[in-house]
Amino acid sequence: MLRLDSINCFYGKIQVLRDISLHIAPGEILGLLGRNGAGKTTLLGAIMGLIKAGSGSIQLDGNELTGLPAHQIPKLGVAYVPQGRRLFAEMSVEENLRMGLLANDQGQETLDWVLGLFPALTERLNQKAGTLSGGEQQMLATGRALCLGPKLLLLD
Ligand SMILES: Nc1ncnc2c1ncn2[C@@H]1O[C@H](COP(=O)(O)OP(=O)(O)O)[C@@H](O)[C@H]1O
Ligand SMILES: [Mg+2]
Repeated sequence: MLRLDSINCFYGKIQVLRDISLHIAPGEILGLLGRNGAGKTTLLGAIMGLIKAGSGSIQLDGNELTGLPAHQIPKLGVAYVPQGRRLFAEMSVEENLRMGLLANDQGQETLDWVLGLFPALTERLNQKAGTLSGGEQQMLATGRALCLGPKLLLLD
């Protein structure tokens, strides 16, 4: 489903990712281990189009992702839970989830499915995301990503 071939990434002249290749098949769970600063977040950023890969190829079901604008990648079915969650703190739980729906043109059915997975969010639909507990915020960040109805979920 997702194939990375010889990805190299740089911040200025500093090379952070060197010749990374991997393949994820449908139904597969892949864990990436690495010390602090090893480049895990950079790699996910490159897949999501948030960081430009210096060279190499990233393909989803045979379609090249490198070079696509970042907002198109969720529309191909790739969802992302950022390391720092990146919730919209001043928006409600429901509004945050609806942003996920919008990112991939999903509807009420997907929202109901996500709320079924996270009953704690259902009880707090009108609460501002910034006032949730850490664990609740993590549920919301994951729920918002699942609101894309993704075929691939990236969890940083
Ligand atoms: N925007 C940036 N500019 C310059 N260096 C960066 C930037 N983001 C990350 N780095 C550096 O790139 C390396 C990899 O970072 P990162 O991908 O966040 O690592 P990890 O997620 O594995 O802890 C680190 O040495 C970090 O300091
Ligand atoms: Mg990281």
